[in-house]
Amino acid sequence: MYMSTDEIRRAFLTFFESKGHQIVESSSLVPANDPTLLFTNAGMNQFKDTFLGLEKRNYSRATTAQRCVRAGGKHNDLENVGFTARHHTFFEMLGNFSFGDYFKEEAIQYGWEFLTGVLKLPKERLLVTVYQTDDEAFDIWHKVIGLPEDRIIRIGDKTGGKAYESDNFWQMGDTGPCGPCTEIFYDHGDHIWGGPPGSPEEDGDRFIEIWNIVFMQFNRQADGQMDSLPKPSVDTGMGIERLAAIMQNVHSNYEIDIFQTLIKEAAAVIGYDDLSNQSLRVVADHIRSCAFLIVDGVMPSNEGRGYVLRRIIRRAVRHGNKLGASGAFFHKLVGPLAEVMGSAGETLKLQQAMVEKVLKIEEENFGRTLDRGMSILNEAIDALDGKVLDGETVFKLYDTYGFPADLTNDVARERGFSIDEEGFNNAMEAQRQRAREAGQFGIDYNDSVKVDAETEFCGYDGTQGEGQVVALFRDGEAVDSVVAGDKALIILDHTPFYAESGGQCGDTGLLLADGVIFSVEDTQKFGDAIGHQGILSEGALAVGDRLTAQVDAKRRAAISLNHSATHLLHAALRQELGEHVTQKGSLVKPDGLRFDFSHLESVKPEQLRKIERIVNEQIRLNHVIETHVMDIEAAKSKGAMALFGEKYDDEVRVLSMGDFSTELCGGIHARQTGDIGLFKIVSEGGIAAGIRRIEAVTGEGAIAALHAQDSLLAETASLVKSDSASVAIKVNALVAHSKQLEKEIQQLKDKLAAQESADLINQVQEINGTKVLIAKLDGADNKALRGMVDELKNKLGSGVVVLGNVSDGKVGLIAGVTKDVITKVKAGDLVNMVAQQVGGKGGGRPDMAQAGGTDAGALPAALDSVSPWLTERL
Ligand code: ALA
Repeated sequence: MYMSTDEIRRAFLTFFESKGHQIVESSSLVPANDPTLLFTNAGMNQFKDTFLGLEKRNYSRATTAQRCVRAGGKHNDLENVGFTARHHTFFEMLGNFSFGDYFKEEAIQYGWEFLTGVLKLPKERLLVTVYQTDDEAFDIWHKVIGLPEDRIIRIGDKTGGKAYESDNFWQMGDTGPCGPCTEIFYDHGDHIWGGPPGSPEEDGDRFIEIWNIVFMQFNRQADGQMDSLPKPSVDTGMGIERLAAIMQNVHSNYEIDIFQTLIKEAAAVIGYDDLSNQSLRVVADHIRSCAFLIVDGVMPSNEGRGYVLRRIIRRAVRHGNKLGASGAFFHKLVGPLAEVMGSAGETLKLQQAMVEKVLKIEEENFGRTLDRGMSILNEAIDALDGKVLDGETVFKLYDTYGFPADLTNDVARERGFSIDEEGFNNAMEAQRQRAREAGQFGIDYNDSVKVDAETEFCGYDGTQGEGQVVALFRDGEAVDSVVAGDKALIILDHTPFYAESGGQCGDTGLLLADGVIFSVEDTQKFGDAIGHQGILSEGALAVGDRLTAQVDAKRRAAISLNHSATHLLHAALRQELGEHVTQKGSLVKPDGLRFDFSHLESVKPEQLRKIERIVNEQIRLNHVIETHVMDIEAAKSKGAMALFGEKYDDEVRVLSMGDFSTELCGGIHARQTGDIGLFKIVSEGGIAAGIRRIEAVTGEGAIAALHAQDSLLAETASLVKSDSASVAIKVNALVAHSKQLEKEIQQLKDKLAAQESADLINQVQEINGTKVLIAKLDGADNKALRGMVDELKNKLGSGVVVLGNVSDGKVGLIAGVTKDVITKVKAGDLVNMVAQQVGGKGGGRPDMAQAGGTDAGALPAALDSVSPWLTERL
């Protein structure tokens, strides 16, 4: 029975719906609030807290078709993708889940019924594995389902591995829900090499695992301890692509309907015929992960998730390029993908234009350096003695040409070479080191200082405090004491100094004691400790001393206004531009704020105005800025904006400004929005594909910015003898007037030149029967000389013209010779002969040549030498 992938997806969800399961949407590829995970990699991710009993849902059975990405992080298969039958960066996992509802027996029965009853897979092709000690699962398969004992294989812990390290004990990661599992395998037939699970030939392609049914029983702690879950549960996962291969009677996943369509489309946009080429598979696979990652809010960048995305895009572009793609092609596959994904493509369809744009920009950026990088790489490989490409070259390709190391490795591997990863990492580290050394202190304290202390921060409500020195560092080394003149880092047990975090810069100020002055230039976090960086200008300090801490209060107040304004800006951007706007970076300083956010186009001037108006309106509403500490779940249900990928503690600080803005934030803020006074955007621009940056000022800074503009306007007005109100009209009139003057000047110059050449014609002499004109000009425009010579040549009809001009103390020379005379005299030779006498050099065409010189005094004599020179030649 043939079934399309879309039909399989629907059949699965409908089947489990008929068994009382709630159909739940696939969650985002960016795991919500799970810092332990780079990308969603299994259907159960969105239910993690439900398994743990931390989150209650109003159903106890669920079913999903979950989009997953396994690239980067723990499961990194990137370099195998395209070259094996079943590795993908993106796949869909069909799953059914029981949260303390049914357990082993129903889970196994449902699985069997779906495969053999709905899909009608032949029973004799199926076999299963169970965890070594799971007699219960064994008995259900044997006694309830009726599977012969020889088709139920027990799999234990790996030899030499830790307890529970087994193919039949599933764990989400190093921590989290886990349990023993039973896996269902399909036998593709004895024409394919391979043996059943547990046999020496198990890595062959004959027996393929299609469904994993996990009996969730434990929560694994970081130290390896297994705590029992509140209720035994079920989590299952079946790769839809593998199932489609079976239902479509093909062996490789790349032969199923979805991939065949994508491979054909890829061949068409690249302009390549051989559909069996592996690079087409790479492209077909990669468009799936890239498109859906972008749908889920990941943007290409140089770190974290964005960098994984960038690597996948660049790998796809390189493979397309290998097949001869000219220009950007990858983004053209988004439309066909949205179509072929059926019900799973709906979200992509809605955002198709945005996804295409992001990919196109990234492709074009990389396309510019790809050819150059490839030729450097190929040359380096050609020149290799051994089999390993050195780390410096890999680094140069990364740094200058945007080649991620695994892409370089890919190319090297295709040619039978490998790369020196360690050398590459060393080169990266050396670069970081250089960057650090370029920094202000010469030492990156964050890197070198290991502080085993905790500082209590007591600066939310004030800028003064007392603290005891618990550790001291000089040049990155722990010391017992420091003396006047030392640059040092001081850790206190209590401090009102805010350490840089969440985009808010660190405080500055003074640490004081009798006869001791330490000026704090920056404050940074070191684990749970707060470090004050600066210079001891008077006295001496030792561990144990008590100090009075005084934050620069004026600076702190300016920072807090900018921080509060940042929250208002964030909310206003989402209101005006859309919910796709998310924070990508933030910097809050005393003199202004900088906010980076995801958005594809430049923000239009009228939108910027509107955003400014919205923020200022919220300022005038003078909301009290409230902070509440609550648990993360409560914060989420209040709708607090959290940042992707940020790790939050269980207890979070929620900051709200009326109903307008609610965000998780640990920073320092104004008391009321009215304190901000005024908000003014000073710039907007793009900083990377899909990322914009707004810079703005508030309070006194905003007033200062307005004053600066006022002064500029007033100064301009006074320069044009006008006032601020009518300056535009005045400047407009002046510009028009000056255009008119330029026109008139040009007309006069033309007239003069014509007059001058008419005068010059009177100076024509004859040498051996040829008309010759030798003349010296003063202050003529050097650019106009060519026109004059052309005109003179026309007037003479046949002859030689030499003009010498002195303008601003510099000599300009030009010679023209009519065509019929150039056999005897060449303008280039002539001008060169004269130029050499005035400290210059020159040459040019035989009919027209120009030169310059520096010795204006020598010009008359040099021109006098022309007649005898010509007499010899004409
Ligand atoms: N969570 C299980 C897996 O990913 C079903 O295999």
